[in-house]
Amino acid sequence: MPKLGVNIDHVATLRQARRVIYPDPIEAARICEDAGCDSIVCHLREDRRHINDNDLVSLKKRVRTRLNLELSVAPDIVEIACKVKPDQATLVPEKREEVTTEGGLGLSSKKKELERVIKQLVKENIQVSLFIDPEEDIIKMSKDLGVGIIELHTGAYSNAKTSEEMNRQLGILKGSVRFGKSLGLIVNAGHGLNYQNVSSVAKIDGIEELNIGHSIISHAIFVGLEKAVKDMKALIK
Ligand code: PXP
Repeated sequence: MPKLGVNIDHVATLRQARRVIYPDPIEAARICEDAGCDSIVCHLREDRRHINDNDLVSLKKRVRTRLNLELSVAPDIVEIACKVKPDQATLVPEKREEVTTEGGLGLSSKKKELERVIKQLVKENIQVSLFIDPEEDIIKMSKDLGVGIIELHTGAYSNAKTSEEMNRQLGILKGSVRFGKSLGLIVNAGHGLNYQNVSSVAKIDGIEELNIGHSIISHAIFVGLEKAVKDMKALIK
């Protein structure tokens, strides 16, 4: 059964909508862990639109499972990651104007930068994952960059408008997981997964962990966070 990493960014999005101190993402992390999630995920964005530096420090102190920090290769953010030392750092592309991470990392255009950042993070004993599109050449490049983990972007699957396209994207994900595993990589997946579309991805043989945020926090508005996490765990199972 794949593990579940819960991204708690959008608890902080709600807080930042009023620039107040609630709801507290740290308390959210505790509830998610009590409900059985396997890791806590957050994205320290350059514009700090949700999680901020203090949240990250508190999460590092309080998370009892694993802390997976999503970050861009921006030097000041990488420096913060090296200081805070999450268990895992997932490198993602980041554009200021996007509402969410739109695609996987462009590895060939950022090769030198990625090599430098990966080296910096590994030196601090932080496991490094690359958030990439499910394509063989990109998976191969990830392996060549020396990381042990990849996270496949499931956006094309999640956004598919027809069941034919959804099945086609599922096939691509299955092939990518198989290929990544054959190279000895740990293969995770995430983005846009929800209570309707998660099951088929969870069934893919070899997927280690699914990282899910927006749909869980949204469901939590109606059923509470504990039940929202438990409902997602049940579907994955
Ligand atoms: N994985 C990565 C690398 C992400 O950037 C995000 C979004 O922050 C997610 C998973 C979770 O996506 P969603 O909020 O759509 O579940």
